[in-house]
Amino acid sequence: MPMTSDRTPHAPPWPGPVPFAVATPETAAGATAPLPVPWASLRAPSRRRLLLAAASAAWGLPRPLRAAAPAALHKPIPASGERLPAIGLGSWITFNVGDDPQGRAGVTAVLRAFVEAGGGMLDSSPMYGSSQAVIGDALTRLGRPPGVFAADKVWTSSAARGSGQAEASRRLWGVPHFDLLQVHNLLAWEAQLPMLREMQAAGRVRYVGITTSEGRRHDTFEQIMRRERLDFVQLTYNPADRVAERRLLPLATERGLAVIANRPFRQGALLHALAPHPLPGFAGELGCDGWAQLVLKFIVSHPAVTCAIPATSRVDHLRQNMRAALGPMPDAALRERIAAQVRSLVG
Ligand SMILES: NC(=O)c1ccc[n+]([C@@H]2O[C@H](COP(=O)([O-])OP(=O)(O)OC[C@H]3O[C@@H](n4cnc5c(N)ncnc54)[C@H](OP(=O)(O)O)[C@@H]3O)[C@@H](O)[C@H]2O)c1
Repeated sequence: MPMTSDRTPHAPPWPGPVPFAVATPETAAGATAPLPVPWASLRAPSRRRLLLAAASAAWGLPRPLRAAAPAALHKPIPASGERLPAIGLGSWITFNVGDDPQGRAGVTAVLRAFVEAGGGMLDSSPMYGSSQAVIGDALTRLGRPPGVFAADKVWTSSAARGSGQAEASRRLWGVPHFDLLQVHNLLAWEAQLPMLREMQAAGRVRYVGITTSEGRRHDTFEQIMRRERLDFVQLTYNPADRVAERRLLPLATERGLAVIANRPFRQGALLHALAPHPLPGFAGELGCDGWAQLVLKFIVSHPAVTCAIPATSRVDHLRQNMRAALGPMPDAALRERIAAQVRSLVG
């Protein structure tokens, strides 16, 4: 099936200083050690946040913190305080396997490994070919495991079709509701965002957001972040693509928005470029045994980032990626060393 290009236009309410806790070897046994994040600013509770938190409780939340991954990094969704596993899963291209039985078995295996590793956010879109149907099929084969945070998008220029598209997507997934619906690449956002907020008010979706990637339309994105009521934003962020650090990530913290980092590996090109080079010595301090983990640790250790959503068609890669949520996380100085190293190798 021809793949539609994704390049087409188309705090918790606590006052404390710790937006997330990271498990270290010392804390893996149970306690958590705070990673000080001096540049994060947290908001006082608003009425809306408290309502969201109450709604989350009513929906049986916080999400299961499964025993399978007690030491994995979780980060809070600022709007509610619900904690999400820091490594999620994308589905563009990798899950677009159509009716191919082998392809579907492969996706099911990847999703099984994701759930077993304590994964949360699973991101898809009507733009991703057969991915939504394939996800629905895999979830059924896996017996509808708890813990999956179902994130999808609306992607239509038609104001009238957004709601129907969201419902069609929900049926393909076979979920009672989405946890998150986002306006994909800001397409017709003026119409789709109010529609999503109506769905949210009616209890048909828990969170709403907007997406962009590869630095596109950041000016408009910023305006929407400033003016509209959102829970999530999704954007491209990795050690080689840091433009979001200038305005969007600080603004997300200021506005209390969760951040999803897409294209963590530049659709694989980043890892391909890094693969011939040995890991820097400091990777060992972070417990990384591959570039994928080092890149993901860089991403999710940014205080504004809630989760990264690497895509993969391989169980071994999935397991590598999920291990990035374990062990120590880099502090600000080490993050700069990671970025400098990556820049020196990939330009
Ligand atoms: N505007 C938007 O809303 C937007 C735009 C872009 C992306 N997204 C979302 O973000 C997700 C991630 O972005 P992406 O799909 O562009 O690509 P990505 O996650 O940056 O890279 C995926 C590629 O990396 C490879 N890979 C994954 N883990 C690996 C590992 N441990 N070792 C070696 N290779 C590995 C995969 O190949 P293998 O299959 O061989 O593992 C795959 O080809 C998408 O799937 C989508 O859900 C959203």
